[in-house]
Amino acid sequence: MKKSLRTRCVHAGERTPAPDFKPVTTPIYPSVGYLYEDMRDLDAIFGGERQGYVYPRYGSPTVQAFETAVADLEAADEAVAYSSGMAAIHAALLSAGLRAGTAVVSAADVYGATYAMQEQLFTSLGARVRFVDVTDLDAVRAAVEAERPVAIICETISNPLLKVADVPALAEIAHAAGARLIVDSTFATPYLMQPLTMGVDYVVHSATKYIAGHGDVMAGVIVCSSELAHDLRERQKLLGANLGPHEAWLALRGLKTFALRFPAQCANAQRVAEWLARFPSVAAVNYPGLPDHPQHDVATRLFEGRGYGGMMSFDIAGAGQGEVFRFMEALELVLPATTLGDVQSLTLYPAHSSHRAVPPEVRKAIGIGDGLVRLSVGIEDAQDIIGDLDQALESIHE
Ligand SMILES: Cc1ncc(COP(=O)(O)O)c(C=O)c1O
Repeated sequence: MKKSLRTRCVHAGERTPAPDFKPVTTPIYPSVGYLYEDMRDLDAIFGGERQGYVYPRYGSPTVQAFETAVADLEAADEAVAYSSGMAAIHAALLSAGLRAGTAVVSAADVYGATYAMQEQLFTSLGARVRFVDVTDLDAVRAAVEAERPVAIICETISNPLLKVADVPALAEIAHAAGARLIVDSTFATPYLMQPLTMGVDYVVHSATKYIAGHGDVMAGVIVCSSELAHDLRERQKLLGANLGPHEAWLALRGLKTFALRFPAQCANAQRVAEWLARFPSVAAVNYPGLPDHPQHDVATRLFEGRGYGGMMSFDIAGAGQGEVFRFMEALELVLPATTLGDVQSLTLYPAHSSHRAVPPEVRKAIGIGDGLVRLSVGIEDAQDIIGDLDQALESIHE
């Protein structure tokens, strides 16, 4: 039957039989709907009896390619992708059982939004949150004893103070109390450690950062067992915090150079940290690769000599917001942008951005002072990064 122009505009060219080839890289599948000749196949996919796609909140091919890649890097059964790192953290806390009447023990030194999500959102819903210094294992044990939490949550390398969590020890404490351990491994990445092999239940990444690596996509991911992934996918159907196919494609493309980018960032960061530690107006440098870092030995044990990451923070002696702003404005190469983990070197002032949601008195108590600067070291030549920091630090007092 000859169709009208209006009908042909809608359907012409679509769903032509696939030619006999496989694309080298996964295409972007933006399709919301998926067709099956036999309605029983659709039914079986809805029922979880066979693999397939029905609707993007239930999963989609480009997103699955990204999930498969991350699961592979993390030695995980599965990965579940999210629209952002925060969406992934939210999902992990819910899946671990955090709800009214239950508790979580959280590292005090975490990304500001992670702090605020727990302290504001979850407490407003009736959950309890106990913040502790997770590098003090006795304090963690005492908090777990007092709260009987459903989960312990921390960052493997913390933002912005670069504390390194003794992940196997925390897993033991959590499991002995029947709790799950959730770690945000955004700073450590799968290159430095694979926390699932150390007993962690949920490993979260802001894939916006090192995994994608180019500052052009927002994404989050959780890696875990198949059992927990099933639970996360069921929740995802209701919550809808899914990663989009275009974003999944960008993240997957970025990931291809991760194993080249990240070691270069670790090597650059080591040089920059050693240089900063000698700079007269730098009062302290927080970088796990420095021998005087309080968890240097823990980091060496967990990262097995592969490096210490590309992130650091440092205190400019006697500086407040004014001096830090002058420093950031004087930078010519390092970009004062609110992100991290990209190929470019980036700097940020935690007190006014990443940790703005943390009350000033809490910031002060956990060690985020007014002179603290966070630095994400890129893949540029280390000497150029050092040269730029040098001139900008010198310019503060001019
Ligand atoms: C350690 C860490 N976790 C999670 C997040 C949140 O990730 P996203 O911005 O992708 O939601 C961030 C963001 O900076 C972060 O630094």
